[in-house]
Formats: sequence, structure tokens, C-alpha cells
Amino acid sequence: MKGILICGGSGTRLRPLTEKTHKSLLSIGGKPMVFYPLQILLKAGIKEIMLITGPEHSGAFMQYLGSGAKFGCSFTYRIQDEPKGIAQALGMAEAFADAGPICALLGDNIFEEDLSKHIHSWSGQGGHLFFKEVTEPERFGVATVEETKNQKRKTSNSAPVLSLEEKPAKPKSNLAVTGCYLYNSRCFEIIRNLKPSARGELEITDVSKKYLAWGELTATVLRKEWVDAGTHEALKRAEELVRR
Ligand code: DAU
Repeated sequence: MKGILICGGSGTRLRPLTEKTHKSLLSIGGKPMVFYPLQILLKAGIKEIMLITGPEHSGAFMQYLGSGAKFGCSFTYRIQDEPKGIAQALGMAEAFADAGPICALLGDNIFEEDLSKHIHSWSGQGGHLFFKEVTEPERFGVATVEETKNQKRKTSNSAPVLSLEEKPAKPKSNLAVTGCYLYNSRCFEIIRNLKPSARGELEITDVSKKYLAWGELTATVLRKEWVDAGTHEALKRAEELVRR
């Protein structure tokens, strides 16, 4: 399996911090944010990693990550000229994925749980997502899952997915879709056929929805903390989380 770190976008909600650097290079716990999703891939044994970012801060990413030798992996870089969506960025990794499954991680997502064991044990079939209960689901992709006996458990559990919606005004649940996407190579065929959403982006949620329609989407509901460090407040929470 190959790893993809998705680190483009404009980071407008973190201005002025993101005027001079990229959101995923901001310091959390004394390390650039991208270090944490990278750690997940490395722990899962993924050594071939593509980093996708915009032209503005690509040099700074290369300066920090280099060839990957210091992390025991190898990096390939691709530039997304304009932020036309997470799915558009992922589509740029098609040749790199070489017809195999991928694990794509958003560069601004911090997980308390060790995702590497879930990634490692994934079958490589269809798609697999990770959900987490949040207080403001309308800010995220939102999922509903079938009620299971495991629902009240304190440890993460797998749950059948019923629906997915990108930032709904009236969320049907408080389960957010986190920024870790396990897809087989059919994700690229899906992306090639996607149409831009109302905000002009190729939506990653539309990719997952296709797997759901095919009956090929599975998910894990995470119990430990998760932060999308895209706002000033979330950045503070991420800092607390990595210092625990
Ligand atoms: O964090 C999880 C959420 O991430 C999901 O729940 C949503 O379904 C998903 O759409 C996404 O929502 P965000 O509003 O957080 O996406 P954002 O625009 O902040 O982009 C997330 C990361 O992807 C960020 O590190 C920048 C990168 N990105 C974004 C876009 C739009 C790209 O690399 N290229 C892009 O074109």
C-alpha cells in the first residue's frame, strides 16, 4: 500500500498564521503538523509516500521532509496548482499508486488513536473510513451508521455505514468523517468521473459515497480524540492532544 499526504489548499481560516507558511507546517508540540500524519503511515509500515501541496509552500515541505531518508521512507512530490478539492489532489496520485490500494491522510488531521493497526489490518478491498463523534458535525463530512451492540463501547469498533453527506446544514448525526481514507485503486476511476460540487471542488465525500453505493464501504468509529486543526481553536486542542 502507498501513502498520500494531502497538504494543499489555502488555509484561509488560519490567517494570518498561514500567510507565510502552510497550515500543515505550523508547529504542534514542537514539530510541523505534517509530522503526525506521516508518523501514522510510517507506523503502518508504508514507506512510499507522495506529498501533494500547492506551489506556494512546496519548497518548505521539501526542505523539512527531504528525500525521506531521515524518516526511513521515500517521498515523491506533486504540485496541485489550484485548490480544486481533496479528491482532485488525490487523483494526482494515480500513477504513483500503480494500481494498488492507498492510504490518504489530510495534513491537518491529528489522531489520538494509533490508526496504524487499523490501516495494517485493512483488507485492501473497497474503501474504509474513520468516524468520530463531534459537537459541530456541520463543519465536516457527516456519516450515519447502523446501530450495533458495540455502539456504547469505549473502544473503537467497526460499524455498517448508512449515509454520507458533506457539511450538511442539518446533520443527521454527530459522526464526522475524519481525514484518513483507505481506498482500493478504483478510487481513481471514481475521481476521473466526478463533477465539481457547488463550491467548485471535487469532493472526497463523493468518492466515499460511490463506494457506499457499491456496498463496498466499511468504517471504524473512533473513541479517542481527533482534531481537524483548521481553526485557531482547533490548533490549540491539537497542541494539548500531542502533549498528553
Ligand atoms: O478533516 C476532515 C474533513 O476534511 C472531512 O470531514 C470533510 O469531509 C472533508 O471535505 C475535509 O473538510 P475540510 O473543510 O476540513 O477541508 P479543507 O478544505 O480544510 O482541506 C483539508 C486538507 O486538504 C487541508 O490540509 C488542505 C488539503 N486540500 C484541500 C483542498 C480543498 C488540498 O490539498 N487541496 C485542495 O484542493
